[in-house]
Amino acid sequence: MNLQYALGIAGLTLAVGIGTAAFAGPDEDKLVINDVIEMITEAPAPEHVKQLGTIYSGWRFRTDDTQALEADDFSNPAMLAVDAAAEAFSKVEGEAGKSCASCHEDVSKFKGLAPSMPKVVDGKVVVFEDMINSCRTNNMKAEAWKWNSDEMQGMVALIKNQSRGMPVNVTIDGDAKPFWEKGKEMYYTRYGQLELSCANCHEDNYGNMIRADHLSQGQINGFPTYRLKQAKLISVHNRFKGCIRDTRAETFKEGSDEFKALELYVASRGNGLSVETPAVRQ
Ligand code: HEC
Ligand code: HEC
Repeated sequence: MNLQYALGIAGLTLAVGIGTAAFAGPDEDKLVINDVIEMITEAPAPEHVKQLGTIYSGWRFRTDDTQALEADDFSNPAMLAVDAAAEAFSKVEGEAGKSCASCHEDVSKFKGLAPSMPKVVDGKVVVFEDMINSCRTNNMKAEAWKWNSDEMQGMVALIKNQSRGMPVNVTIDGDAKPFWEKGKEMYYTRYGQLELSCANCHEDNYGNMIRADHLSQGQINGFPTYRLKQAKLISVHNRFKGCIRDTRAETFKEGSDEFKALELYVASRGNGLSVETPAVRQ
């Protein structure tokens, strides 16, 4: 679709203005974390997103400075929250007198879980935040953590970090199919006064500049992500919310069924890329 045209009609050319002249695709840099873990930041697009040809991690669209922060755990600002979560993992809380470690021993036991997430269990899309809060409230008799809290996002990051480097491999058929279809429909729905879908920006225009931002494919393999602008770890749903708000639309809530279905769909568009958590973005 012709984005300039659509925006022109809306009379909002200045509000968004995507510059095709400044096209610069992903760079050629290689991401090797701590000089040891080789990350897959580029892969053939999975069969269900053939239109992309190749999928790229958002890391490939960032400046050298931002890239460098993620490449080394000592410079990665997200690691503070991850370290705090590692301590919280063995901290006893709640009326049952238990910590995560009482039942799960070591967080490394969760290695291999992140690539398959989100997944459908008992007819519902389950994301990490659900698993963690269900354990906190049912198993620990402790209070649920707020979705966007540092505690919650730090714990999600810690658990996903155990699988860092492993390729994303989300299931899209079977029980997952109806949720995946719903997420896909959302991805191609035009929202807001600007009438823009996720695909208009992240599929049709990745590589282009939008204001001062280099548009990526909007992959979520690095979430929760440390955003320099917000100076904290950001959840997938918080990022979705921000993007939908930018189209001047009403948006869904963190933890809503809509965002869970969208998370499942968007995660599957990254099947083949390494889990990069915690990524660093602008
Ligand atoms: C009283 C025991 C208990 C405590 C305490 C507990 N859990 Fe669990 N947790 C379980 C059980 C049982 C399951 C479901 C079986 C399984 O998958 O391991 C589970 C499942 C999970 C899963 C999903 C695993 C999967 O493979 O699907 C995650 C993630 C998790 N717990 C994280 C945590 C975290 C983080 C904490 C601390 C905040 C915690 N749990 C505290 C017992 C516990
Ligand atoms: C008006 C254009 C626009 C629309 C529409 C849009 N986004 Fe974005 N999105 C951006 C920009 C700009 C960024 C920051 C640069 C980047 O990472 O691509 C971004 C970033 C992201 C990121 C972070 C990527 C990373 O590597 O950390 C995700 C995920 C994302 N968008 C998902 C979505 C989803 C899902 C939708 C639809 C609900 C959507 N976006 C709609 C412009 C848009």
